Amino acid sequence: MRARARPHTQARIAAQESNGDYPVADESHRTCIEAVLTRHVYEAVQEETRMGASLLRLHFHDCFVHGCDASILLDEENGEKFSPGNKDSVRGYELVDIMKESITSQCRVQISCADILALAARAGVQAVSPPHRMPIWNVTIGRYDSKYSYANLTGALPGTDEPMDKLMQKFADQSITDVKEFIALIGGGHTIGLNHCGFAKRRLYGNDTTNLYSDPEYITFLEHMCPETQSVQHDAEVSIALDNKTMNIFDNGFFASLHKGRVGIKSDQLLGDPNNPSEIRAAVELFTDNEDAFLEAFSAGMETMGNNGILGSDEGEIRAECRHPNGNYR
Ligand code: HEM
Repeated sequence: MRARARPHTQARIAAQESNGDYPVADESHRTCIEAVLTRHVYEAVQEETRMGASLLRLHFHDCFVHGCDASILLDEENGEKFSPGNKDSVRGYELVDIMKESITSQCRVQISCADILALAARAGVQAVSPPHRMPIWNVTIGRYDSKYSYANLTGALPGTDEPMDKLMQKFADQSITDVKEFIALIGGGHTIGLNHCGFAKRRLYGNDTTNLYSDPEYITFLEHMCPETQSVQHDAEVSIALDNKTMNIFDNGFFASLHKGRVGIKSDQLLGDPNNPSEIRAAVELFTDNEDAFLEAFSAGMETMGNNGILGSDEGEIRAECRHPNGNYR
């Protein structure tokens, strides 16, 4: 049942009205949409390389919670955005707002926030990929946005302390059932970007068995960066590379780091566990030696993930502003 509209600011009413005059974006608008969006993403990455990684993670964390419906963007109190796993960790929201405004005014279309997240993740990855070695996957245009935020479903996000079978199940629950896609998505996601000390510390100062197959020198480096006695504030402020080797370049470097026992978070190092099922060990070996195979599996995985739980016009809406639903639906 649709409830009374919440009070809107003048700006929001204006945005909604002008937005509503334009046609809903579809394939025929792709050239303009991609031109405007790509320019913004490349400019942002030039200013801060990490933004490529942040846009990829934003899409991933959206897609794992009630599908790729931009529900993560809603500024709802106690909503998804402010749940553990997202709060003070996922970033890129301001850039999404800017892209929404630019595409709407320059292409004169109603573009969904879900379309923007999916296209921006691809542009973000490509912006940090070496030319001629970038992953390419299809992103459909014409998705709709959710009307709600789903904080109650954020348990679907994978956790760094979870065992391999649980992690695989969580990906399978989001329709990623192919082991190669599962491994390539984690390796691709974590070949760029940063993680906070809080995550590294979880494995450093316990009796963590993953440290058995880590490089002792690297463990010493992590301990130096993230001392046990440091405050929670320090752990939230200090970040280290997820892929110690080439953190600013999208490549198969994660797997070389994994082999050397030099990846930051526990679930990543777990991919190198010699006791893993043979199909996992085979995929890790393949991607270490063969970058083309990695790029192919990552691209396939992104397409699978990016099509997860897409909404149509009957279930969603095209938000006028990515941070707010168009009405007060609760
Ligand atoms: C086992 C599954 C996964 C776990 C447990 C996991 C966990 C994490 C954690 C703890 C961080 C650091 C967050 C922080 O310090 O604030 C992180 C960062 C990141 N993750 Fe994952 N992740 C997983 C899979 C993925 C996948 C599938 C992707 C994308 C395809 C991805 C992309 C990223 C990116 C790009 C970053 C860095 C973001 C930035 O620097 O802004 N992750 N992940």
